[in-house]
Amino acid sequence: MQGKRILLGITGGIAAYKIAFLIRMLKKSGAEVRSIMTPASCDFISPLVVSTLTGNPVGIEFWNKQTGEWTNHVEYGLWADVMLIAPLTASTLAKMATGNSDNLLLATYLSLKCPTIVAPAMDLDMYQHPTVKRNLLQLEDDCVTIIPAERGELASGLEGEGRMAEPETIYTALSSFFNRTQTGSLKGKKVLITAGPTYEAIDPVRFIGNHSSGKMGFEITKACLAEGAEVVLITGPTNQTLTHHRLQQIDVVSADEMSEAVKSNWESCTIGVFSAAVADYKPKAVAPSKMKKSDTDPTIELVKNPDILAWAGANKSKKQYLVGFALETEDLLQNGMNKLKKKNLNFIVLNTLADEGAGFSVDTNKITILDECNKQTEFELSSKQKAAENIVEYLINSIS
Ligand code: C5P
Repeated sequence: MQGKRILLGITGGIAAYKIAFLIRMLKKSGAEVRSIMTPASCDFISPLVVSTLTGNPVGIEFWNKQTGEWTNHVEYGLWADVMLIAPLTASTLAKMATGNSDNLLLATYLSLKCPTIVAPAMDLDMYQHPTVKRNLLQLEDDCVTIIPAERGELASGLEGEGRMAEPETIYTALSSFFNRTQTGSLKGKKVLITAGPTYEAIDPVRFIGNHSSGKMGFEITKACLAEGAEVVLITGPTNQTLTHHRLQQIDVVSADEMSEAVKSNWESCTIGVFSAAVADYKPKAVAPSKMKKSDTDPTIELVKNPDILAWAGANKSKKQYLVGFALETEDLLQNGMNKLKKKNLNFIVLNTLADEGAGFSVDTNKITILDECNKQTEFELSSKQKAAENIVEYLINSIS
């Protein structure tokens, strides 16, 4: 963050008190911070605290009532490398979404030359309100990065989604923003992503499946959307949810259904990231009615499922770029390299159940990327979100 110029917009929510900690973190890391506060936010955190911690005067009004001096919002906009608005209230959100500029913070937002990041903070029902959801989508459309509100205890005493992301999370989002050379690197690109498990029916009520949660594929989807891509997400059964105006989600159950969906969409995409844990085998025949318990041990005859990724690799044009995953329990690198070649991939993301914190239902992952030139890049154990960001960053660097 050394020397980075952060314009911090503070709006009138109770989470404003936490901003003092964030300013301390930013200043300690060498960033320059200037702040603009909405008049309402001054009831939640004193401008004196903010100006003392930032080491700069705080902008609140369009003009100084004592001296008559005008505050130049355009100059703020030119100075900043990024504008961070935290907390972002429903009111300021609505005004940003509609281009209302009735205070200094909003006028500055409209004059910005740099990207904007926001951290919404609202009460439970406000955050769920369709208007708020619509306004957040509008901001995303306007290329504003949103640090989603978190779940937990709210100032109202209610419990749920709406708490502003913690200062540490906002700090991490800002540093990954500065670590990225560009944003919107996947603008104009259409990415096909497979995620989750597949369920292979034995009879109308039973199936063969696996423990894949779909988290990794959904995080990759989010990271691609954040870079401006259009995404076709083909997912097996999962509890994950995501809505975005650039996302087309196709829900499937079996490998055959996933294969059909991929075959109909692959040609129109330029990038494929296949993270689904597709069942390798399916029952040869699906019993038409629930199989009855009997005295003899039943046998289920299995047949191979289509290898969807191998099909995409075999049908890959020169303009298309393909990424696969491999979860191995032994000979990780050798098996990974064999798969990369056999399935005609550009790179493969390897993980092993042997690594603590990696695998299906945990929130973390430890990955190694192996590319077609045999280059091997190991990443530290991280959240699946961070692992997804690493994969997408690697992808962007590889295609550019
Ligand atoms: O061969 P293996 O199943 O280990 O390869 C894993 C990779 O292949 C993953 O990217 C997975 O999504 C993909 N795959 C597939 N169709 C299958 C099996 C695996 O697309 N039937």
